[in-house]
Amino acid sequence: MANVGTKKLGQQGLCVSEQGLGCMGMSFLYGPPKPEQEMIDLIHYAVNRGVTFLDTSDMYGPETNEILLGKALKGIREKVQIATKFGITWANGEFGVSGDPAYVRAACEASLKRLDVDYIDLYYQHRVDTSVPIEATMGELKKLVEEGKIKYVGLSEASASTIRRAHAVHPITAVELEWSLWTRDSEAQIIPTCRELGIGIVTYSPLGRGFFASGAKLLESVTDYDYRKGSPRLQSENLEHNQALFQKLSEISSRKGCSPSQLALAWVQHQGNDVVPIPGTTKIKNLNDNIVSVSVHLSADDMKEIEAIFHVDAAAGGRSREEELQMSWMNSETPPYSTLH
Ligand code: ATR
Repeated sequence: MANVGTKKLGQQGLCVSEQGLGCMGMSFLYGPPKPEQEMIDLIHYAVNRGVTFLDTSDMYGPETNEILLGKALKGIREKVQIATKFGITWANGEFGVSGDPAYVRAACEASLKRLDVDYIDLYYQHRVDTSVPIEATMGELKKLVEEGKIKYVGLSEASASTIRRAHAVHPITAVELEWSLWTRDSEAQIIPTCRELGIGIVTYSPLGRGFFASGAKLLESVTDYDYRKGSPRLQSENLEHNQALFQKLSEISSRKGCSPSQLALAWVQHQGNDVVPIPGTTKIKNLNDNIVSVSVHLSADDMKEIEAIFHVDAAAGGRSREEELQMSWMNSETPPYSTLH
């Protein structure tokens, strides 16, 4: 089985594996944390297969996912590209958002310590703080680049205008967003803006948080402590409709000689050389399945057929719960810089 290749992200020199590895589920949100040594072995296996672009965040755990990565990367740090994030705060079980410059610096230093590395390859603002001008947050990130603590800057869940304003302060290398067969709302403005500015695109939840692997059966393996229990698209009122979409995906994938999850990942890969999916997994078997997807070829007609089924409004139910959408790109406009002076 061939290893995965590489892609360039942005215009500043970052080169990553063409498929990344989302590490969140190893520690957070998708059921209880997974056994540490198994996850370390999985990360090592991924890196040996060429999956070197590793995605984490300080709030996965919180903190424990970065600590896990820090342990896994002993001796192999130079082989990987570490992407982590700041900006979602947690205190007493309450999550908030901060883009305050002093907070950005403290968060970066804490992440460096947990990861036990000298620099972070790609440092994203996880969610935009609508009370701080994006220019102020970017000003601090620019200083961190100059000091060598981070190499490249990214934004996650930022609107087109926020991306544009941020990019004017310091080049944005990548924007991370949810982009998959059933979440295509960024195609109207955000994706074209990234392309105009030469910004790379990193897509999280490309497998629909696992739905494109097993459809409604996913619910059988989801425990009470799993975030997906509350996912609008998996609720009974939406499930039948979404399951019908999954059936159609399965029909096409059997014709193409691959699995539905491989077809879902291949669709993201076919969006362009500037797009890198980061499927999350906690299992070597699933990692191997996902790697195979990079060699699934889709013709223009295949893409047309898939997109006719998974059009922009195809899925029933929102991609996230309402309170999370409040923190997404749809609500990421910050005050003008002039308000600081
Ligand atoms: P996220 O970005 O939020 O991690 P995702 O990549 O769309 O979301 O999907 C992640 C989910 O898909 C995980 O629950 C993962 O389960 P495992 O940890 O058990 O692998 C599941 N998943 C990933 N690859 C899979 C595959 N090839 N077959 C089945 N399930 C898979």
